[in-house]
Amino acid sequence: MHTKRSEWWKDAVIYQIYPKSYNDTTGSGVGDINGIIEKLSYLEALGVDALWLSPVYLSPQIDNGYDITDYRQIDPMFGTNEDMYRLIEQAHQRGIKIIMDFVANHTSDQCSWFQESRKSKDNFFSDFYIWKDGKADGSKPNNWGSSFGGSAWTWDESRKQYYLHYYAAEQPDLNWENPNVRQYIYDMMRFWKQKGVDGWRMDVVTSISKDQDFPDNERDLTTANQQNGPRMHEFIHEMNQEILTPLDMMSVGESPAAKSWNAWELVSPKRQELDMIFTFEHMHIDRKAGDINGRWALQKPDLVALKQIMSNWQNELRDNGWNALYFENHDRARVISRWGNDSNYRYECATAFATILHGLQGTPYIYQGEEIGMTNPKFELDEYEDIELRGNYQHFVEQQKTLTETEFLDAVHKISRDNARTPMQWNSGENAGFTTGKSWFKVNPNYTDINVEQDLKSEQSIFAYYQQLIQLRKQDTMLRVGSYQLLLPEDQRLFTYLRQENDRRWIVLANLSEEMIELNELLELSNITQEKVIISNYSDRYRVMDLIRPYEAFIIEI
Ligand code: NOJ
Repeated sequence: MHTKRSEWWKDAVIYQIYPKSYNDTTGSGVGDINGIIEKLSYLEALGVDALWLSPVYLSPQIDNGYDITDYRQIDPMFGTNEDMYRLIEQAHQRGIKIIMDFVANHTSDQCSWFQESRKSKDNFFSDFYIWKDGKADGSKPNNWGSSFGGSAWTWDESRKQYYLHYYAAEQPDLNWENPNVRQYIYDMMRFWKQKGVDGWRMDVVTSISKDQDFPDNERDLTTANQQNGPRMHEFIHEMNQEILTPLDMMSVGESPAAKSWNAWELVSPKRQELDMIFTFEHMHIDRKAGDINGRWALQKPDLVALKQIMSNWQNELRDNGWNALYFENHDRARVISRWGNDSNYRYECATAFATILHGLQGTPYIYQGEEIGMTNPKFELDEYEDIELRGNYQHFVEQQKTLTETEFLDAVHKISRDNARTPMQWNSGENAGFTTGKSWFKVNPNYTDINVEQDLKSEQSIFAYYQQLIQLRKQDTMLRVGSYQLLLPEDQRLFTYLRQENDRRWIVLANLSEEMIELNELLELSNITQEKVIISNYSDRYRVMDLIRPYEAFIIEI
């Protein structure tokens, strides 16, 4: 059995780049790899240790690159393979690691494997995907649904069978039961290791194993049967032993269904599967569970639940795994717009959420623009680009008719994935400095006020606050090893906890409301012998016990 060597990622802060929207150096309107290279000094100044790039491989871009035609080729839209190798080299020179996105569950229908597979039932690639005959009456093999709306099965005229796709019809699911598929994937991973890639973010890796009985779901939406299939752990362990451990590559898997109590099965070092997983649990605190409108059925965010869930993950993985900490990514809205205040308390709110996240044990992930407090745009429906949004509009508004257009648009403004995909706001010039051409996606009109240049020169710089948080993780062992204890679990406004290492204690606190809070009445802390402010987002804070102002946040050693 192979055992793991380095654990650099336990001390790291990782920055996610959505290349399409980061920085365009050619005027094409689409961000590119040279654009990332151009910003390496910016990223080094921020202090991040690794970059995770959303997919940059050859792709028809039906789902912005999560539909891959060729895993070994960089899409010309983003540059060349040589550009990518140069990015890896130059990032490494600055001590920054590179993590690529590994889409394990499906490819593009343009991938040569699928093109071959659909030709016949008896060629080498025939079983690379999941093909089924229809039922006796010709209808679909079962009622499984696609996350982007409609059925998860599409009829293929050339092969005269249905194929499975958990996402768009242009994203057929790979058949991991076939050992050749797994070997092809491992070869691809070896290829990128040779080029210097340090790790993998694994797209919906918990969907790779399918129940071979293909039973109907209770409801036709994507549910239990489409996650954590019977051979999932076996496949992931095999990949670990073939690639991750021997090649010493870091891994973080996207795991929509994992709960705090079973997460260890994927991340316990003893099991040799993954280093970390992205849970969805804490991101669902504003969703009406079990509602017919799925992820578009929103409710007021439940802060007590947020604290409970995040604390459960802290406690469960303390000695048996490691947490991946995030509020934002390319599938999530801007947290300050979604759960907080993105107008008059934008600085305070952005830094409050950052304090809470970065104060925890685990590896924090920062999503591009989060470090300057970018916000959700409020576009008209036809100004959005995302395939999920369009598919779900058809499904819920046009066909099922359980949401009106206005209700849907309200939800879109809160949680749609496109909220995070507007171009990065670099300065107040044309197109926010993102491109000199015509941007592929509308820039958030507030770029004239909210942009990197502006933030860096502001007295209240969110970027500078992130710099401090990142340095803190490097300078002090507390955040990595300190124990965790949630305080005031029932409080609806304060998220506060204690970290403790030997006899040192840090209190981390954020007011996630706009109210003034009299702390004296709430918090009982014993043996306060000293109060040293480690970081705080109101510059005049000097002790714990005081009135807590809107979105005030701090870490104080007591
Ligand atoms: C999760 C990715 O993060 C998302 O952007 C994508 O659409 C789906 N997986 C399908 O690959």
